[in-house]
Amino acid sequence: MVVAIDGPAGSGKSSTAKAVAAKLGAVYLDTGAMYRAVTLKALRLGVPYTDDEALSAVTRETEMIFEGAPPDIRIVMDGEDVSAAIRSDEVTKNVSDYCARDAVRTSLVDQQRKIAAGHTVVCEGRDICTVVFPNADIKIYMTASVEERAKRRQKDFAAMGINKSLKELIADIETRDRKDSTRSNSPLTKAEGAVEMDTTGMTLDEQIDFIVALTKM
Ligand code: DC
Repeated sequence: MVVAIDGPAGSGKSSTAKAVAAKLGAVYLDTGAMYRAVTLKALRLGVPYTDDEALSAVTRETEMIFEGAPPDIRIVMDGEDVSAAIRSDEVTKNVSDYCARDAVRTSLVDQQRKIAAGHTVVCEGRDICTVVFPNADIKIYMTASVEERAKRRQKDFAAMGINKSLKELIADIETRDRKDSTRSNSPLTKAEGAVEMDTTGMTLDEQIDFIVALTKM
């Protein structure tokens, strides 16, 4: 069974998908982490997002492994645990430019299908219902208001001891939303047949129960 979840940054995908995967005993696949890892590596190597040839080589030659079981999943890139490094401000600010490139997407989509093959999987991202698993058993498009999403990000940062203003976070989210939904390759959009789930005002438990109930129908 494949549970596919798309949605913008901060809509609640990750925390919900991890918990649903744990409940179902499924593989949890965080495709955003893969785009972030390639971005981190390219930034470290000084490869600009416009250099398709170098970017294609970087993506192909990067080994990415997910370790652990949901909700405690770590991403290991070329033998290094980069779970924290891929969440840095620098990666977050640059990832929308890198992930829009065909040179990156073609290879990562291929890797995502290979990781999921033969498993029950809960997979989240931006193009999961539209491109990666268009025949998924369950397709969900998760949203929440920009204000709500910014507040959630502010809480995440506060937990890491970082203070961010709501204004700055709203601006960052709006920029990323615009880039992710207007790019030419696999833009973020609600797939045909996807169930829309607005998580504004929903608790995490309600979100989890909603999806688990869909898997039982
Ligand atoms: O979900 P996230 O914030 O970790 O995703 C990081 C970036 O990766 C986000 O700007 C959009 C991109 N992404 C994508 O283009 N396709 C996916 N399937 C997952 C994420």
